[in-house]
Amino acid sequence: MTVQKRTTKAPAKKRKSAAPKAKAKRATKPPAKAVKAPPKKRKSVPPKAKAKAKAKAKAKSPARESKPPVRVKSVETPAPKKAAKAKSALHTRICEMFGIEYPIIQTGMGWVSGAKLTSATSEAGGLGILAAATMTFPELEQTIAKVKSRTDKPFGVNMRADQSDVMKRVELLIREKIKVASFAQAPGERVIKTLKDAGVLTMPTIGARRHAEKVQAWGVDAVIAQGQEGGGHTGQIPTSILIADVSAAVDIPVVGAGGFRDGRGLVAALALGGEGIAMGTRFLLTQDSQVPDHVKQVYLDTKANGTVVTKAVDGHPQRVIRTFLIDQLEKASPLTRFPRAALNALSLMKVTGTSLPELLEEGIAMKQNQELTWAQLAMAANAPMLTKASMVDGRVEAGVLPTGQIAGVIDEIPTVAELLERIIAEAEETLERLGA
Ligand SMILES: Cc1cc2nc3c(=O)[nH]c(=O)nc-3n(C[C@H](O)[C@H](O)[C@H](O)COP(=O)(O)O)c2cc1C
Repeated sequence: MTVQKRTTKAPAKKRKSAAPKAKAKRATKPPAKAVKAPPKKRKSVPPKAKAKAKAKAKAKSPARESKPPVRVKSVETPAPKKAAKAKSALHTRICEMFGIEYPIIQTGMGWVSGAKLTSATSEAGGLGILAAATMTFPELEQTIAKVKSRTDKPFGVNMRADQSDVMKRVELLIREKIKVASFAQAPGERVIKTLKDAGVLTMPTIGARRHAEKVQAWGVDAVIAQGQEGGGHTGQIPTSILIADVSAAVDIPVVGAGGFRDGRGLVAALALGGEGIAMGTRFLLTQDSQVPDHVKQVYLDTKANGTVVTKAVDGHPQRVIRTFLIDQLEKASPLTRFPRAALNALSLMKVTGTSLPELLEEGIAMKQNQELTWAQLAMAANAPMLTKASMVDGRVEAGVLPTGQIAGVIDEIPTVAELLERIIAEAEETLERLGA
């Protein structure tokens, strides 16, 4: 498919604009005889770089430019060299703990991380995580079986501890010997203890130091520290501050999230005290993610300042692409949002096979756990449907597109295997450049 960059973007601050033509972003895999990607134009590649470093640089993300859009037949992601075995600096505690080759995690993303993406990540040496919060119980069972049919490597499952059937899901994870359970919010001591006693590792996402301290006291095995740059529900503290602060405060491994896409970022996370990186948006924009191509194109077209953190979707701060719908939701009063939210919540019931009593039970649990008003609760129940409208049905105009700011500097759609090889090669090169 020929794709075209729709809008002209402002030049990135620290980039050279040496390319004669603007590069169109692509959302699909090129055919076999594809045109090769133009050489990189980044300032970050030192001019005196050695030939080896130049060759490796081909495998990095291409620079963005601000020239008018140009139609191209296709652009090929250069095949990276097989990365040498990760250096010891890249072999952290999470590699040992999770049984993975690289300290790279693909996070659970509702409607996005299905069997294909998760198994591709684990198979490539990272930790893939299934997004279970938007799956029915039977769907979760089937998807776990699908992942297992594609890889023997360890993988994780992301859950919401306030789902009415959470303990049933916990039992499933134990039965299926799932390596890691991750959580969008604080999971609660009971859930942690049950999983831990059965040998399932636990790793909640946190956005502040005090949350990390709290869940460490509950006995979790690791935390994902997500900075405000990150996609979906997110906090207020930038990633660079958060990783350093949290890793100084807790003894368990801290995995940095929010704003990562490459090997330089991985090294930066390690330098800050982290033991790896967890990425959402970067994995969403791979050939292995199930998001429709035209939706991926919208992400590729998004500028670094084209995202917004809004409470208008479900009452909690969530980073999404700024669209017409988001602007409208932000302007609307809770009273006008409420009827639409309630209708969508009812549709979600049908999609997930939830009965009305179950929905009410779940709603009451959410209300108690998160101290939401009834209007906020309706909006919260509504949010997954809005995300589904975009991510599954491809209705960009009708839906919500959660994203990290990193979407603004992602230009292409590699396979997961290419991405991981490239990140490790670049991290090794960066360590070498820094004399590590
Ligand atoms: C489309 C999308 C859906 C997400 N859904 C979930 C989810 O269901 N559960 C969860 O714990 N985090 C979710 N997140 C957050 C990611 O797991 C991850 O922490 C975040 O994307 C990291 O920031 P990054 O996008 O800059 O890599 C979602 C993020 C995105 C972009």
